[in-house]
Amino acid sequence: MNIAAHPVVEADQTVYLKDYQKPSFLVDSIQLDIQVFDDKTHVYAKLDMQRQTAGDLVLLGRDLQLQSIKVNGQVLAENEYQLDTEQLSIANAPEHAVIETHVIIHPESNTQLEGLYLAGGDLFVTQNEPEGFRKITFYPDRPDVLSVFTTRVEADKKFPVLLANGNLIEAGEAGEGRHYTVWQDPTKKPAYLFACVIGDLAVLKDSYVTSEGRNVALEIYAEEKDIAKCHIAMEALKHSMRWDEEHYGRPYDLDNYMIVATSAFNMGAMENKGLNIFNTSCVLADEEYTTDAAIMRVQSVIAHEYFHNWTGNRITCRDWFQLCLKEGLTVFRDQSFSEDLQSAAVQRIDDVAVLKAHQFPEDSGPLSHPPRPDHFVEINNFYTATVYEKGAEINRMMATLLGKEKFRAGTDEYFKRHDGQAVTVEDWVAALTAGSGVDLSSFLIWYNQPGTPKLEAQGEYDATAQTYRLSLKQSLKAHPKYPNLKAVPIPVALALFNKASGEQLVLNSDALFENAVKDGVYLFDQDEAVIEFTGVKAQPVVSLLRSFSAPVNLEFNYSDEELAFLLQYETNGFNQWQAAQSLVENILLKDHDAQIYLDAISSPKLLPQLVCKDPLLASRLLDVPAEGYLGSRIDENYNPAMIQEKRNALLTAVALSFTGFWKNIYQTLEAPAEFSQAMGVRALKNIALNMMARQGDESVFDLAFEQFKTTQNMSERLGALKVLVWNDAPQAKEALADFYARFKGEALSMDQWFMVQAAHPKATAESIQALTQHPDYDLKVPNRIRAVSGGLNANPVNTWSFGVQHFIGLAKYLDEKNPIVGSRLLQALSRWYTLAEPQRSVVKAELEALKPQVKSKNVSETLNSMLSV
Ligand code: BES
Ligand code: ZN
Repeated sequence: MNIAAHPVVEADQTVYLKDYQKPSFLVDSIQLDIQVFDDKTHVYAKLDMQRQTAGDLVLLGRDLQLQSIKVNGQVLAENEYQLDTEQLSIANAPEHAVIETHVIIHPESNTQLEGLYLAGGDLFVTQNEPEGFRKITFYPDRPDVLSVFTTRVEADKKFPVLLANGNLIEAGEAGEGRHYTVWQDPTKKPAYLFACVIGDLAVLKDSYVTSEGRNVALEIYAEEKDIAKCHIAMEALKHSMRWDEEHYGRPYDLDNYMIVATSAFNMGAMENKGLNIFNTSCVLADEEYTTDAAIMRVQSVIAHEYFHNWTGNRITCRDWFQLCLKEGLTVFRDQSFSEDLQSAAVQRIDDVAVLKAHQFPEDSGPLSHPPRPDHFVEINNFYTATVYEKGAEINRMMATLLGKEKFRAGTDEYFKRHDGQAVTVEDWVAALTAGSGVDLSSFLIWYNQPGTPKLEAQGEYDATAQTYRLSLKQSLKAHPKYPNLKAVPIPVALALFNKASGEQLVLNSDALFENAVKDGVYLFDQDEAVIEFTGVKAQPVVSLLRSFSAPVNLEFNYSDEELAFLLQYETNGFNQWQAAQSLVENILLKDHDAQIYLDAISSPKLLPQLVCKDPLLASRLLDVPAEGYLGSRIDENYNPAMIQEKRNALLTAVALSFTGFWKNIYQTLEAPAEFSQAMGVRALKNIALNMMARQGDESVFDLAFEQFKTTQNMSERLGALKVLVWNDAPQAKEALADFYARFKGEALSMDQWFMVQAAHPKATAESIQALTQHPDYDLKVPNRIRAVSGGLNANPVNTWSFGVQHFIGLAKYLDEKNPIVGSRLLQALSRWYTLAEPQRSVVKAELEALKPQVKSKNVSETLNSMLSV
């Protein structure tokens, strides 16, 4: 090996978007032969490469034991190539080079869950996005190198299932109790979409006929006992396939579509061409074992990975800076799909709640970055809420502005221009512009700068002139790395309501500058603007950013009475919810009196009616934001205990302000057959149990225990268990033991068992330690780690006391074992700098002390950014 002899200087490992260069060689085809043994795996690769531009022939490779390399049939001697820990390069390679390599890898000891790894006793799977393929073989592992893959997989017959992308073209005996399959994927793809699976799994089969008449075999692979839990995913898959044909004109392009479930997975799921690999948490769905929220998530993740077949696979990213091109668009598509599955308003509420709870805080702190970053050290650190959720919002804004037809013309143009290519965000916006005939180029600003814009609005009614003037102003917090922040185009969806009658007014507007209100949407793209509405005969109340038409922080000086008015009269379900949220924030963060909110929320005109009509929306209107979210709205002197106390006081006041209501809805509501209605009823009944407990009515524990014991539905069982455990009810221990005995062999249900206990408001370092030392706790399974860490982090008071050691300890351990997950978990502490002293300095010192102890790019980049405030 030729490792440089000169002194090691800690190189700057930052990669910049501006340095992008085309690859010097392309790969026309690759033949892979993967032979799995108990103690090692042999990988033989043959790449047919063609020069494209000047430069060395560079193959990336990490943790590979090179056995041999040939170029055009000639074995290379060690002095004919350069090899270091990251790459193999050949100077003066011929124009056309057939490269043959043989390497040995060790999936059986791969704990990072990247590349090919042993995911459990009898299952090997791959995870190659973004840069895992280089841990399988030497390859130009970058998304702008697309190739035709032929894959031979060979293993012992104790692994009956041998899968790879594309069509099965051959299968047979390989001697010594071994067998093989050969697969060919006809579509060119980047290496990150390569997958193979070697294991002992059962399969659920179905089929689907595309709009073009193609008959597609659908297969979901999972453990035998879990096959019964794959039906919801299968239905969601067929539904997604139809949906993409109907909404985007995109049929599926292969004869098979396979999904494999594994419990050892860093993320939720992965869109490998024709062979998706899923975390069990995102494919197994069954009322008895998984919650309603998990069932909704399964459907949206199935749709998401399926939608990538066009937005991601057929058209991929030129480089990883463009990640939000595929992820932002695909999230927007899966959100739209989910809006068709249940109440669209509730889906929007849930999506915006995620955006505000994760993306907004990320964007206001040290990890803030543009949806398309311009530099990174470790790309795995950029699968963020900003890339995903803000990326989706940018697409939603453009779709809102264009309307259905023009947006479709734009996406048609995108598929027409770029099918089979690796492209950029600019290509996407240009295609949308050309297809729709509407210039969207100013939306590129959204992709390129960080921070959540502040949108300040003021309204002024002139009764004599019968005009209502709305002044708007936008601004962004200065960012040290991005000095030239520009105004962004903000679609403001709005409505006016008659304050006296509650009726919605028809809008007549004259924008004093430009961009008059069209279809209830005003495009605000300057630093400041004024819109004037005419013919406004009575005092109005304005409702802004309906359906959250832009990802901004709105500041409008609503009185609490006006918010209560909107909660009651707004016909946009999202803005109704937003009004309730604003009222609650006023109480908890600005010390407003709670009475107006309590009166509004308990008004007989609101919930009692909605509870029957739209129980799911009714349950959301009762949301009181989590302590973590409230904390994220505080930028300095944050005192978690104070937030906890105030929030509890408000919840108790809500409980007491509806006297007989809770017991009444608990006893009278019955879950109907329709799933989303039933989900709403279950959510309401669980809220009712909590409220009764807050009323101090101890008989609620008997009701909860009864519910716990008799239901066959996980949302009901878990809802009851939480009430018992979190209130230290006398039945809590028995319920936990019963749950354990019942679900011992069900990993996803057991995750909930760990989570409930970790999320106990009075958890302690000792109680958490008891969980992490439990025989069923497993540091090799990210889902289990997340169950305990996520549960603990549900109570910021705990996170910021003994939780600090918990997260730092995990980051230290995972730094080597699984740096992707380690880096993510450490982010639980990213808002340390907002804490009040002395906590702030204590946590800072702990983070500083961690710095010299971590080695991975993942954890160190995150830690450095976290400390750079
Ligand atoms: N392409 C990602 C999965 C991925 C990215 C895996 C990076 C490993 C490293 C996939 O399409 C995805 O976005 N999955 C999400 C779920 C989705 C519904 C947003 C995930 O895994 O969380
Ligand atoms: Zn994705």
